Amino acid sequence: MGIEWRDSLSIGVEAIDNQHKELLSRFDKLLNACQEGKGIAELKVLLLFLEEYVHTHFRDEEALQKLHRYPEYESHKAEHIYFIEQLKKLKAETDKSGVSTHHVVETNNMLLKWLLNHISKVDTTLGKFLKSEN
Ligand SMILES: [Fe+2]
Repeated sequence: MGIEWRDSLSIGVEAIDNQHKELLSRFDKLLNACQEGKGIAELKVLLLFLEEYVHTHFRDEEALQKLHRYPEYESHKAEHIYFIEQLKKLKAETDKSGVSTHHVVETNNMLLKWLLNHISKVDTTLGKFLKSEN
């Protein structure tokens, strides 16, 4: 069971869509690694990647919202902050006690679920707003 990009997830801004594609493909790698019993090693890779990439991605998305005076900017940003906090918590735990299967499961259940939900609802709402602006 993997995850795939689908056009319904597009927010109509190519740069953001490409970042979302990249994020989903990284999570897909984790799901595939899990099937091969290599989830722990892949989670280490994913956490390192997310630490940087997610900041860049959220910053780009928020800058776009500011540029267009998006009325839901604050609540949207709050969602991003929530994700960053969850990621930080996970990072702190794994730094302290090492990556375990529990963390892999948590990442799939929590971070991936959040991401899919966020892209398909909150980001597509942003996409609709941006389209209505044009
Ligand atoms: Fe977002």
